Amino acid sequence: MKYKRTMGCGEPTEKDAGREIVLSGWVQRRRDHGGVLFIDLRDRTGMVQTVFIPQSLGDNFAVAEGIRSEYVITLCGKVRERPEEAINPNLTTGKVEVLVSDFQIISECASLPFPVEDNIDTREEVRLRYRYVDLRRPEMQKKMKLRHDVTKAIRDYLDQQEFLEIETPFLTRSTPEGARDYLVPSREMAGHFYALPQSPQLFKQVLMVAGVEKYFQMVRCFRDEDLRGDRQPEFTQLDIEMSFIDEDDVFKLVEGLLDHILQQINLAPVSPIPKITYEEAMERYGSDKPDVRFGLELQDVSHVFLHTDFKIFKNILAEGGAIKAISMPGGGKMSRKDIEDLEETAKQYGAQGLIWIALKEENIQSPIKKFLREEEIISLQKLLDAGPHDLVLMVAGEKDIASQSLGQVRLRLGRENQLEKQGFHFLWVTHFPLLKYSQEEKRYETQHHPFTMPHSDDVELLGEEPEKVRARAYDLVVNGVELASGSIRIHQEELQKTVFDLLGFSPQEVQERFSFLMDAFHYGTPPHGGIAFGFDRLLMVLSGDRTIREVIPFPKTLSGTCPLTGAPGKVDDHQLQELHLRILEDE
Ligand code: AMO
Repeated sequence: MKYKRTMGCGEPTEKDAGREIVLSGWVQRRRDHGGVLFIDLRDRTGMVQTVFIPQSLGDNFAVAEGIRSEYVITLCGKVRERPEEAINPNLTTGKVEVLVSDFQIISECASLPFPVEDNIDTREEVRLRYRYVDLRRPEMQKKMKLRHDVTKAIRDYLDQQEFLEIETPFLTRSTPEGARDYLVPSREMAGHFYALPQSPQLFKQVLMVAGVEKYFQMVRCFRDEDLRGDRQPEFTQLDIEMSFIDEDDVFKLVEGLLDHILQQINLAPVSPIPKITYEEAMERYGSDKPDVRFGLELQDVSHVFLHTDFKIFKNILAEGGAIKAISMPGGGKMSRKDIEDLEETAKQYGAQGLIWIALKEENIQSPIKKFLREEEIISLQKLLDAGPHDLVLMVAGEKDIASQSLGQVRLRLGRENQLEKQGFHFLWVTHFPLLKYSQEEKRYETQHHPFTMPHSDDVELLGEEPEKVRARAYDLVVNGVELASGSIRIHQEELQKTVFDLLGFSPQEVQERFSFLMDAFHYGTPPHGGIAFGFDRLLMVLSGDRTIREVIPFPKTLSGTCPLTGAPGKVDDHQLQELHLRILEDE
């Protein structure tokens, strides 16, 4: 290169007028005004207008005319103030321009798959295939900067709090977080596999036995599960573990950390964060990650229908089920089609149907009108604080199903009617059940993971009524997204064995998979607990995106592929042989 840059493209101001400078960057835009060529040159620092004229460039002007969008060029020239009428108030460099005296084309750019600007509607697959072009766009540059700033804020804060950042292995054994493992075959030991960690859960607990006391890690986790907008096969966790603490210490640390992060990116603090128990969250919102940006709370209206003539309600109540209801203000105007769509949502989540009552000044409209008694309608209106023009929606069924399906209807109503308040609405959800019964597997599964401490008041129930045992587990939720999850851990071998037993692990399985943790418990184990944030989800929420793919520089598509590299790819027979593997022909 003939010249070395002396300044960023976003830096020259009127104070630099008269200075000779050298700039390097990408051509954002080129405007040919017949004999004068304007080129907006961009680098990471911003953009500036440069002016090419034949008088300064001589024969080189013809070369300049060949410059196109996204060419990389270096130029030298003099900064000069723009005339008043040519000032661009939208650019930090908008009061000046650079009159070019010499330039060099460093590299050309092929025809672009999409323009390097915000708000494009290009297919995501294409954006990911040409991610290096996509990441040049200002909004993506901002997101990479945000990712860096938040990472730095986290490291600074936790360092101040005397946490140690410690790396744990990627080539390891299976860690039970509920997803499938990504496996890596061993070349040295035929038929043996490493598993990529679903989280560093076991290692961070071992680190507590090792006397670290305060650990954290910004760590990649790997989970082979069905992908969604907020799920990637590899994602980053902010993983935290502490010794000699209880739930309140975790809440305090996380709230301090969040306030620090938000302050560093010029947003308002959020502490103290309100708490709600799992039971209350299910009761009021039909969800363990309630979106509290809007009301439309669920009510249990079972007692209103104790003497109902409506058979379906009657039978469900007789079987110990419940009737849950919400009222949509002004919803009386909704069309049948809108209500049918809502019913579809309820059915997707297990409801048999969705009963509606449109309240009018004088009377009501409802498919079950002829079964409704006047006093039932009056009670419903009172309970739901509903009046004329409102729409009452009800699901009757097994209590959890009624709550969850109506909870989904609630979310849909909130979203489609834009009821969500602005800002970040954080919430701690506490006292999760320790176990849930899987009808499919015909056994108990953990709600969080097998290392979670049961609530001390409920330990006795482990034998007789395990599903009633509450866990010392907590989630951090924001705007309806589960952001972080954690618990106080079991640190006694006997209790850990009881829980493994309840989960159906045989002693051999425990020995094979977790003996290192159980062994470690023999050597002086402090009480401990922690939490892990989905770091990508945190960024998604902070940047207002709908998917975590937007805040991950090189994400996978929903089918788990990488359009940029073509991963996953085939391997040759020699590699397979070395790994002692054979591909089944019919797959
Ligand atoms: P959990 O499995 O709940 O807990 O994960 C913690 C947080 O990680 C995020 N997360 C994901 N983000 C993107 N893609 C995924 N596939 C994905 N899966 C999870 C979520 C979630 O809240 N070891 C425990 C934590 C602990 O107990 O300390 C754990 O991993 O935001």
